Order: sequence, then C-alpha cells, then structure tokens
Amino acid sequence: MADGEYRAPVGTHDVLPPGSGRWQTLVATFAARAARFGYGLVITPVVEHVEVFQRIGAGTDVVGKEMYELTDRGGRALALRPEGTAPVVRAFVQHRPPVPWKVWYLAPNFRYERPQKGRYRQHWQLGAEVLGVDDPNVDVEVIALAHGFYREAGLRDVTLQLNSMGAPEDRAAFVTHLREYLLAHADDLDPAFRARAETNPLRLLDAKEPAWQAVIERAPQLTEHLGADARRHFERVQAGLDALGIAYELTPRLVRGFDYYTSTTFEFASTALDAAQNAIGGGGRYDQLAEEMGGPPTPGIGFGVGVERLLIAADAEQALPAAGAELDAFVVDGVGDLTATVLVDGLRDAGLRADRAYGGRSVKAQWKLADRSGARFGVMIGAAEAARGTVGVKDLASGEQLEVPREQVAGWLRARTETDDRAAGR
Ligand code: HAM
Repeated sequence: MADGEYRAPVGTHDVLPPGSGRWQTLVATFAARAARFGYGLVITPVVEHVEVFQRIGAGTDVVGKEMYELTDRGGRALALRPEGTAPVVRAFVQHRPPVPWKVWYLAPNFRYERPQKGRYRQHWQLGAEVLGVDDPNVDVEVIALAHGFYREAGLRDVTLQLNSMGAPEDRAAFVTHLREYLLAHADDLDPAFRARAETNPLRLLDAKEPAWQAVIERAPQLTEHLGADARRHFERVQAGLDALGIAYELTPRLVRGFDYYTSTTFEFASTALDAAQNAIGGGGRYDQLAEEMGGPPTPGIGFGVGVERLLIAADAEQALPAAGAELDAFVVDGVGDLTATVLVDGLRDAGLRADRAYGGRSVKAQWKLADRSGARFGVMIGAAEAARGTVGVKDLASGEQLEVPREQVAGWLRARTETDDRAAGR
C-alpha cells in the first residue's frame, strides 16, 4: 500500500448511508419472510477450518483457486468463508439440532476472483438452508421463499432455471458417460478441452469457449439419465412449483459451481442484467454433505442470494428506491442549557425519530439544518418557550406553527405522524 493511501482492498467495498438504507430494507424483508416460513437466524464464524470447504470440491474454482486461506498464530489452517452452505452444515453436524432444521443467514463470502461489476472479492449473501428432509415439498418451499423475496424486493425481470443432478449414483454414472462422449470429441479441440473433460466434465457443460459449443450442445443430458427415484422427486418438485404458479425453465445444462449438489438445483437470473453476471441467486440439494462431514446421513437443500447483484438488478429495473432516513422531528436549541438534550432524549424514548444540531450553532443555522434534514417537524426550544414550559412546533412542509406544552409534545408528534402515515397509506 502506497504511503497515505488507505482504501478498502480491491474487490471489496464500503456500504454507507443513505445507500445502506436499501440493505436494511432487503435484510428486513428477507428476515420477515423467512420468519413467516418458520426459519430461524443462524450465525457462523467468518473463518472455518480449511477442511470444511474442501468438502465442497477441491477441483472447483471457488476452493481450488479463489479461497482466502490463512494460518493463524496457533498454526491452524483456516479459510475465510467462500460460501454459506458448508459452514451451516458443519454447525448442524456439530450441534445436532432436531430436524427439520430450517435456518436463514446474512453473511459475507470471500472469493479471490477478478473484480468487475457484479463480481467482488467480498460479497454478501442472504440465504436459507433446510436439513433433515428429502420431501420435494421442501424443495418447493425453499424455491418459493427465494422467488417471493425477489418479488417483495420489487424485482419483476427474474427467471428461474431448474435442473436435477439426480441421485449420487445417477450423477456418477452420468459423469462417466459424459466423459467418454467428451473425450471422443477431444482430438479436434485444444488440449484444455481434454484436460477439463478429464478432471471435471460436468463443469465443461457450462464452458463459454465458442469453439467448444458444437460438442457441448450435442452432449448427453443428465435429466435423461435419472434413476426412477430422482425422476419422481424432480417431477413432484415441478408439480409443486406449478401449483404455486412459479414459472421455471428446465435447464439440463445448468451446472452449479460446487460438488456437493445432488437432485434439485436451481438458479435465479435477472433479465435486466448482462448474461455474464446475471445470476442473482442459486442453490440446490446436497443430500450427502452432512454425512461427508461426519454427521448422520441427512438430506439438505438451500440457496444463496447475492445482495450486491440483487441491488444492481434493482437499479436496472428502477426498483427498491433508497428509503430516506426520515426524521419525525429536528430540535432547535435556542437556550443552550440541557433542556434540548433532555427533550431530544425524551422524544427518542417515546419512539420518535429525532435529531438535533451540535456545537452551539446559531438558531438560524439550526433551522437551516432542520430544513435540510428532511424532518417533518422542527421543534424549537427558546428562552420564551422555556419560561412558559412549552415548545414551538413548525410543520416544515407547510410552515404552519403552533405552541405545545413541553410534556405533551411527544404525544402530539406521535399522533400527528401516525395520522400523516395513515393518510399516506404508510
Ligand atoms: P453461488 O451460486 O456460488 O452459490 O452464490 C450465490 C449467489 O451469490 C450468486 O447467484 C450471486 O448472486 C452471488 N455471488 C457469487 N459470487 C459472487 C461474487 N464474487 N460477487 C458478487 N456476487 C456473487 C452458493 O454460494 C451456495 N452456497 C448457494 C447454496 C445455498 N446452495 C445451497 N444452499
């Protein structure tokens, strides 16, 4: 770092008010929705033992190339969380809560990616996970939780892509079959194709290289190789989504970036964004992860929504306006003793959003600040009002003024702001 150059690290960002008001709205919306679905908040550490993440696939980019790994002062090999599911499953295995275990989270994730718009080295996810049930109704519930959240956030241009990875044995048999197909076509293509076909044929289905597309497009599809159970499960998920009126596209080439997925997988994309960074959330089943982490066999499913991506999509759709940090009252102090301090404190305790100026400014300067604050009312405490035990109240929009006994001003303001809110349908 150059001398004097204190900046957030590349690929990370600060969230400041008033823009952070949109974060508050999103988090509150998600929390309220998750509560209605019966999910409780889970908070896990930002660092885990590196082995926790090796379970999600040493061959994946997120683990193999992008993980922030560190050795602590005690020599422990730790990693900053690159994604939210493995830590939640680790917590499940550690604490063995009763199932179904339904949890939601808001958490930062760290991936050493090439930063660009919509792709950061630290990004935040709102997510949910359910452990302990393989009922397709849970798949439908989890997808409905995410789907309705986008709607509540004001997004309309959202599509849902749906796929099934099958049972683990279906997936393993398919990977062998797919690898054979890809290798049979590798001679005409560059060596990178062969290397990818050998190490991770599934991910190759997702590759963007134009020269490979003809082979990829004719590749066999996993959904045609599902076993009877996986097929039935997938059909029931689709029937559930149909019943809820949730539209989806069957996307056999949808390949999610982690090895833990089995059965149902899905991704939400914003059609308001460029294709490269249009995934605003994704998830799926991981029916073996808990067992792989040393727990009892326990199916699981969940999703993560990228908060920054969602906000970029909201900008593109002009949805989710920044909620103003609105004030009910701005107190103007014309006395200079502790009366204003006590008054502001009393208003806040009474549930009003109240603020004031600091540093002994002139009354005129304070009224200017009151106007600029966007408060609904200015509350003036001057020498004359102090002597009469009153305050002057000014409606900052209409200019209307009146005098109210000081001990009644909180009640008066509450009544007025509630009436105004009702009239405005807030
Ligand atoms: P993921 O698809 O890697 O899944 O990430 C979920 C969402 O996080 C993405 O759809 C995207 O919106 C956002 N995201 C991912 N990487 C970045 C980045 N570098 N910058 C900005 N946003 C990003 C998971 O992480 C799984 N844990 C989801 C899950 C939960 N599966 C089952 N349960």
